[in-house]
Amino acid sequence: MSSLSEAGKDNIWLHFARHGSYAAGAPMPVIVRGEGHYIYDENGKRYFDGLSGLFVVQVGHGRKVLAEAAKDQAETLAFFPLWSYAHKPALDLAERLANYAPGDLNKVFFTTGGGEAVESAWKLAKQYFKMTGQPMKHKVISRSIAYHGTTQGALSITGIPFARMPFEPLVPGGVKVPNTNFYRAPQYVAHDEKEFGLWAANRIEEAILFEGADSVAAVFLEPVQNSGGCFPPPPGYLERVREICDTYGVLFVADETITGFGRIGDIFAMNRYGVTPDIITCAKGMSSGYSPIGAMIASDKLFEPFNSGTAMFPHGYTFGGHPVSAAVSMANLDLMESEHLLENVRENENAFRQTLEKLNDLPIVGNVRGDGYFYGIELVKNKNTRETFNADESERLLRGFLSRALFDNGLYCRADDRGDPVVQLAPPLTCGQAEFDEIEQILRVTLTEAWAQL
Ligand SMILES: Cc1ncc(COP(=O)(O)O)c(C=O)c1O
Repeated sequence: MSSLSEAGKDNIWLHFARHGSYAAGAPMPVIVRGEGHYIYDENGKRYFDGLSGLFVVQVGHGRKVLAEAAKDQAETLAFFPLWSYAHKPALDLAERLANYAPGDLNKVFFTTGGGEAVESAWKLAKQYFKMTGQPMKHKVISRSIAYHGTTQGALSITGIPFARMPFEPLVPGGVKVPNTNFYRAPQYVAHDEKEFGLWAANRIEEAILFEGADSVAAVFLEPVQNSGGCFPPPPGYLERVREICDTYGVLFVADETITGFGRIGDIFAMNRYGVTPDIITCAKGMSSGYSPIGAMIASDKLFEPFNSGTAMFPHGYTFGGHPVSAAVSMANLDLMESEHLLENVRENENAFRQTLEKLNDLPIVGNVRGDGYFYGIELVKNKNTRETFNADESERLLRGFLSRALFDNGLYCRADDRGDPVVQLAPPLTCGQAEFDEIEQILRVTLTEAWAQL
């Protein structure tokens, strides 16, 4: 083992990581370089980046034009806050995002990431209702197994038990409803995706009525839910959620932290699905990760009470909308436009799906699902009955074997069991058939080995 990873083992505290395995001698992977669709470790070994880092690096690695944008902005104005002052990169980016966003979502509040955007959206929802005569509206409805961030407020919206439990009690007011996992739909709606979607959306109405509409501020959901393994919205689902929110005066917050910036073939997935929320939260692909940035984009209606007299949203982050990050984000969006990356996703998304669906011939593959360049492959013990793995098998399969084996075989992606066991893929938006084939080949070999291990 090299001295680089030895030093890391002594000093670094990794996120969502089991350090015990490293303490017991497992090598800690150290990534030193990225180029195009590939990342390289300290030993020079190459891996396909099947997750765009963490659903982030939309334009691929090693883009000099983004590094230059950062350098130029740092030389011009490295830092200034957005606390009562503005700077040019933030103004340019706010205008651009408002133009991309649907409806009258024209007010951009910058953050440094997705969790802060979610946190900001909940705080805005609470304060908005206090200022407009409905002070009891404070609760948030979100979906089971959904991930919306780790700060205490965002964590209360997150629906992943293992991430929540160590930190309870959480911020009160987080209410959970079913997600849109059609593969695991209740039997009486499992025959028809549209009916299932209606059923799932109506659980939101049920929760609002149960909690009392005068206490519910917002519904938070991802257009395509990540955790659990890429659940697209069934036909009619988002429309019905919009209708329910309108009926009960509840804000619809679309958390586009992952689905934004081309992942689903549009700058915002909600544009693609044709439904306008009240707030969009976004981050990750906004700068392709070349510098951290996120945003909450709110409707004109939500901004209005803050636009007169002494009113204020008493909330902010030192580095929210950082000038360097905003400039990089502008350059990233320029690149997406000049290279027609949204079009690339729309032209190739069916090919991506079809290539992954070839894996359906493996006994361990239960379901391939997703949209755009964002797919999950659910693994099962029995294809016919859809029986999943028990906790021990899941531990052995995913943690003990699959994550490592995929990586050893040259594919960085995610093997996850926050819901049922899935492998997730979200390659850079520059990919095409050759890259899909490369992903499929590595998955085929590794999933075949995994089945033999069981
Ligand atoms: C949908 C969603 N919301 C919020 C977050 C939190 O974003 P961040 O890690 O930038 O705080 C994530 C992160 O993966 C996410 O996927």
